[in-house]
Amino acid sequence: MAGFDAHIYSNNNDIQKFDANDILNSCLSFTEWSPSETIMDVGTGDGTVLFDVLLPKIPPDFKKLVALDINPDMLLLAESKSRQNEKIEFVCLDIATKNLPPRFHSDFDHIFSFYCLHWVAEQRRAFENMYSMLKPGGRLLVTLVVDDVLSDVYDKLAENEKFSSVISGFKHNIFPYRNCENSVETVTQLLNTVGFVGVKCEESKRVFVHKSFAQFEKWALGINPFMKTIPQEDLELYKEEFRAELKNVVKATNGMEVGEEIFDFYPVLVVFASKPLPNQQIK
Ligand SMILES: C[S@@+](CC[C@H](N)C(=O)[O-])C[C@H]1O[C@@H](n2cnc3c(N)ncnc32)[C@H](O)[C@@H]1O
Repeated sequence: MAGFDAHIYSNNNDIQKFDANDILNSCLSFTEWSPSETIMDVGTGDGTVLFDVLLPKIPPDFKKLVALDINPDMLLLAESKSRQNEKIEFVCLDIATKNLPPRFHSDFDHIFSFYCLHWVAEQRRAFENMYSMLKPGGRLLVTLVVDDVLSDVYDKLAENEKFSSVISGFKHNIFPYRNCENSVETVTQLLNTVGFVGVKCEESKRVFVHKSFAQFEKWALGINPFMKTIPQEDLELYKEEFRAELKNVVKATNGMEVGEEIFDFYPVLVVFASKPLPNQQIK
């Protein structure tokens, strides 16, 4: 599992917040809302995106919202932001679980997931579970990162004798579409074979400008999936090695470093799909 440090993530997630806001502003009109609908946010994290970005944009008369995450530390932070809203439930679950709770079957009108699925190796099972959880006619919106310079950093750290076993064991989970020739086509086909209809998958090339290397490093540590798996006594050394490799990658990547600022370029997939209504033609 992605072992993020929830507190570091929570203090350094400007990119995630900015991107979710930007993407939702350009596409939330894709979905129609009715009163008393049910919503799930998959990989809700510390709840910043859910409470600061998503909820202000959707009608407040929804019936319930399930905020799901695999990391209990993230859910604790998210729960502390909910101001005891009784319509919101926090659930600790792997979206790729083989044992989806029966109460979630065909239970949701909308499923959202922001920047979570690129941490999940079992893509088919994750999408199958989201398909199962949608009601017929229910809608899905997923954003995921195809690749980022951080994957080069983990490639390098995987060669480090001290950390290679931890990193090599999890590396295959990160950015599953990184080496795809055509990630749009691959994801579209996957969703079609799972049974979704109206699949629309677009790649957008995004850039975020970090004010300094220190800020870039903090953000990168917040989404470092090994923070909880590296033994405590090795953590400082790990952070030093991580910083050194991050510096190397920045230096080696033309155009990333401009004065003090670090330009982070990364392709993102934005995916919409629906679960068919009972007599709807499957394409
Ligand atoms: C980068 S954070 C994004 C959080 C939030 N959606 C946002 O945009 O700020 C990714 C989240 O996905 C969660 N996650 C990773 N793998 C997961 C899985 N298999 N099932 C459920 N959640 C998962 C992580 O614990 C983390 O909280």
